[in-house]
Amino acid sequence: MRWMAWGFAVWSLLAAAWAGPALADSGPPAPPRIANGLALTPPMGWNSWNRFGCDVNEQVVRAAADAMAASGMRDAGYQYVIIDDCWQGARDGAGNIQPDAARFPSGLKALGDYIHSKGLKFGVYSDVGYHTCGHRPASRGHEFQDAAQYAAWGVDYLKYDWCEAGELNAKEAYTTMSDALRASGRPIVFSLCEWGTSKPWLWAANIGNLWRTTGDIYDKWEGVETYRSGVLNILDQQVGLDGYAGPGHWNDPDMLEVGNGGMTEAEYRAHFSLWAILAAPLIAGNDLSAMTPQIKAILTNREVIAVDQDALGIEGRRVAKAGDAEVWARPLAGGGRAVVLLNRGTAPQTLSVSWEALGYPAGLSASVRDLWTGEVKAKVSGAYSAVVAPHAVVMVRVG
Ligand code: GLA
Repeated sequence: MRWMAWGFAVWSLLAAAWAGPALADSGPPAPPRIANGLALTPPMGWNSWNRFGCDVNEQVVRAAADAMAASGMRDAGYQYVIIDDCWQGARDGAGNIQPDAARFPSGLKALGDYIHSKGLKFGVYSDVGYHTCGHRPASRGHEFQDAAQYAAWGVDYLKYDWCEAGELNAKEAYTTMSDALRASGRPIVFSLCEWGTSKPWLWAANIGNLWRTTGDIYDKWEGVETYRSGVLNILDQQVGLDGYAGPGHWNDPDMLEVGNGGMTEAEYRAHFSLWAILAAPLIAGNDLSAMTPQIKAILTNREVIAVDQDALGIEGRRVAKAGDAEVWARPLAGGGRAVVLLNRGTAPQTLSVSWEALGYPAGLSASVRDLWTGEVKAKVSGAYSAVVAPHAVVMVRVG
């Protein structure tokens, strides 16, 4: 049993703690895990897509690597610099994939070398079909050739998309590329981007290191457009998936939108906090070379990152929901707990979490540290409550 009973109370109701379902066991039997030894904590890095879309080139990627090193992000744990769709040009006469020469005139080996010279790692993107979502050549029928090419370029991470999948079986298609990456001889993190269509959490743990659980995120607190969902809509789709994640194999609720301009600072702090509770990959998606100090402070909050990267690797879960009030929590190595009090609504409200809900004896005296303000309350017992602003979180570490 990984958790004791959970519970929750909205303080203003002075209600008895809401008893969440006790987790009497750890869920379905764990499938075998991918044996590449990578991503023992959720991958951290940057990806070009959310900010630059198809408008990517080697200057953009180099600037991201420069900024990741100079901004303190690298020192805070960010590693992978990932080129998403639209880097591909035509295949050469031997069928080898080549980068678009107009956008990447120096080639991807040189770009990978540059990224590595900054103490960072290099990621690329492809797709199971004949073409990527951005209509560039993809890997179908060239999986082993492409994996070998990536290895020759020094690639450390592959995101593998699901456009033009046609009649393909997802497990088979992703297994082919997983085998190809293994055959390349280079350790390469394998990121499945199948949008949760065929429930990859049920079958992908021994195929890849992370799998998308949803369609695409977009830079909104709440909302759904064709194929795209806001932070809260993505969050809701994570409920019930926590038992499937762990070291080396993570649920991926998609990349961060922090800093892209469509949300308030409080909403971005909430987005980042929730992704940390979810043990989500922290893949920044903003323009790192033009960040405000406020955005940089969010992305480099080491205490929130430490929650995301906790060695136990137990994904947090929503332990209670009462209207617009939610409590999310996860256990941490050493016996502590990370807790997010989430106010989805438009008015401030006071939220509370009881010690019993966290699996602690009610009389336990614990310290509570607010991970955004740094405020510490020593010797708290029974419960912790805080006023949470609209569209915001309070995130604390207990114990
Ligand atoms: C899909 C993926 C996105 C991004 C684009 C690129 O929509 O889900 O994350 O990679 O393709 O075209």
